[in-house]
Amino acid sequence: METKVWDVRNFVDDLSTYPQVQEIITAFKQDEIIAIPTETVYGLAANALSKEAVDKIFIAKGRPQDNPLIVHIYETEQIDAFAHIPHDVVHQLMDAFWPGPISFILPLKHQVLASSVTAGLKSVAVRMPSEAIARQILRLTYMPLAAPSANTSGKPSPTTADHVKFDLDGKIYGIVEGYQVDVGIESTVLDCTTYPFRIARPGAITAGDLERVASGCITEADYQSEQPIAPGMKYRHYAPQSPMTLVSDISSLTLAPNEAIIAPESELSRFSEDMSFALSETFEDITGAMHNLYSVLREIDQRLEITRIYIADYSQISGSDALMNRINKATLGK
Ligand code: TXA
Ligand code: MG
Repeated sequence: METKVWDVRNFVDDLSTYPQVQEIITAFKQDEIIAIPTETVYGLAANALSKEAVDKIFIAKGRPQDNPLIVHIYETEQIDAFAHIPHDVVHQLMDAFWPGPISFILPLKHQVLASSVTAGLKSVAVRMPSEAIARQILRLTYMPLAAPSANTSGKPSPTTADHVKFDLDGKIYGIVEGYQVDVGIESTVLDCTTYPFRIARPGAITAGDLERVASGCITEADYQSEQPIAPGMKYRHYAPQSPMTLVSDISSLTLAPNEAIIAPESELSRFSEDMSFALSETFEDITGAMHNLYSVLREIDQRLEITRIYIADYSQISGSDALMNRINKATLGK
């Protein structure tokens, strides 16, 4: 299959003026799978009501069938067709953070969604993305779109259209090419099927952010030791080709030839430029580090001469939960 690429970067303000917009909408209606930008990472989207369409996602990604997908919507009115809102606090949180980088796991209603979307669970994760292109596609198709991250299973989530091409060229119908994403790591996933709610996957929206809107609404999950609530959390996640180790004190680190360091720019002056990869400006710049993490890891995997990677530990910085969750997965806890 030749994967179409629709570069819509000059049409972000009004996608309906893009000459091939009808082709994109029609493809979704015909159960094709298409990668689209969102504010978190690029997603691989398909009509969530169609088993045929959703099956194609699992095949293209090589994704285990027991790992459910997130359903993306344009407006909250769409939820009523397939899920319950179990608590008034959920409405408050949706009002506060949507459109944006958080998914809510809600009790499933009826048999409307393709059952593979929810991997047969009685709940469904729902998200309203804020990214302009994603929002317009959701408005123009007016379909709930199931969309996991648009990477091959086991690779880092894609933050550019080129990352998607690298993984999925020839395996999917098309790619809607926008700009590099804003957030850079996947959405916070909040399990709202029991109260207080639990964070099943940490993301840019933190427990503190949620608590400020509805105090007492969150019980903190321990992502390392607990039984994973999001089935996807149990799978081996992306780890670079070369072993990667977390370093708590980079000031005492020296690099052997063929070793690389990922750290804040402010810490890198001692190291050879060729082997230094800036994750953020400073340690405090968590937003920058989340933004850059996956593209830096993908870049290093292209550098075959690198045999060992060290990565700085941001865990002392407040708000670093989601970043450290992804780093710990990539280092396999080393
Ligand atoms: O930012 C994001 O969430 C991106 C963009 C494209 O929206 N999507 C994304 O999807 O990261 P994916 O499939 O890579 O991750 C979905 C996560 C998985 O860990 C999955 O197990 C969990 O959400 N999940 C989905 N439905 C669930 C459910 N009903 N119960 C528990 N966990 C669920
Ligand atoms: Mg994913």
